[in-house]
Amino acid sequence: MTEKETILITGGAGFIGSHVVRRFVKSEKYIIVNLDKLTYAGNLENLRDIEDNPNYKFVKGDICDFAFIKELFSKYDFKGVIHLAAESHVDRSISNPMEFIQTNVVGTVGLLNAAKDSWANIGDRRFYHVSTDEVYGSLGETGFFTETTPYDPQSPYSASKASSDHFVRAYGNTYGLPFVISNCSNNYGPNHFPEKLIPLMIHNIKNGKPLPVYGKGENVRDWLYVEDHARAIELIFEKGKNGDTYNIGGFNEWKNIDLVHLLCDVMDDKLGNSQGTSRKLITYVKDRAGHDLRYAIDATKLQQELGWEPSLQFKEGLEKTIDWYLANEKWLQDVTSGDYLKYYDEHYANR
Ligand code: NAD
Ligand code: TYD
Repeated sequence: MTEKETILITGGAGFIGSHVVRRFVKSEKYIIVNLDKLTYAGNLENLRDIEDNPNYKFVKGDICDFAFIKELFSKYDFKGVIHLAAESHVDRSISNPMEFIQTNVVGTVGLLNAAKDSWANIGDRRFYHVSTDEVYGSLGETGFFTETTPYDPQSPYSASKASSDHFVRAYGNTYGLPFVISNCSNNYGPNHFPEKLIPLMIHNIKNGKPLPVYGKGENVRDWLYVEDHARAIELIFEKGKNGDTYNIGGFNEWKNIDLVHLLCDVMDDKLGNSQGTSRKLITYVKDRAGHDLRYAIDATKLQQELGWEPSLQFKEGLEKTIDWYLANEKWLQDVTSGDYLKYYDEHYANR
């Protein structure tokens, strides 16, 4: 039997990372080392079902701690890195841009350095950077982002992700580091921290709280179920062309206000409210500074070259998501209580 390869996944305790880690661990093909700092957005409860799997190991640490990262690369012979660790919320990037530069840019370059310095046979390794469609900027009423759309980031968050994408390509060009990058549209699904639109609305509808819609609610986002993103990541990691970029998206554009209406109506049904009850909670609030009007991904390349297709219709994915949040009240309480290290302290601290 050939030995399983060890892969480093960063940010695996977060929203998308937890789905990626679970998918890779359950595939039984790899040993997965999940490196996560456990910021407010990282919660090991997301990975409760696999925490004792022999193919899985969790390491608490900061990608910006270069000495620690260097040590990790000498301890494990990583065949590849799938890098998701990041500060991910645009509103937070507006109030605190430096933290985004630190983690998203400096942290990414630190990881690239560790890979470049530690990998002797660099040619048979792979550094995969998980990025966002927001690097392309904002679309008008028509058109799509393709892999050749010029970068034009508009928020501190997207500027930090664009910068880290550039560094990944620069390390490929300068040092021969094999890499692949994917730029994905907005994700939704279980384990999403309730500061982002969909989980925040679900949480507030459930609790009868105001639903803050920025501006006129006319901004458009392109939504993809998180497990479809995780499946695309596995495919690109294993089969994507070296040095290439893949856009990931479900051709599923929604105006924010239409999406909030849909959430209200589906949740009224589920909560046994009369139709229209939750829509009354909608509150138009001051617009986000520099709010990108529209994102829309053209995922044709991924579909044609690697045969990927989204598996879920939006309504089906939303129902699954809402059902998950309604069944996981404790998760919501834990992540919103501010005591986000509770699960780690109880289950991991003495391991
Ligand atoms: P998230 O905020 O839910 O999770 C980020 C994770 O990274 C957390 O577990 C956090 O603890 C960890 N982390 C943060 N700083 C760290 C550090 N310095 N060292 C180690 N770990 C650290 O984010 P997400 O929504 O799951 O996004 C994951 C990745 O995917 C990000 O790189 C993001 O830019 C990208 N992305 C997200 C979306 C989306 O819709 N959420 C879409 C496209 C791309
Ligand atoms: P968000 O989930 O923060 O993702 P992103 O900004 O990365 O696309 O926001 C999605 C859209 O919803 C975006 O147009 C901003 C808007 N929005 C609101 O209207 N109200 C809210 O409370 C939030 C968090 C977002």
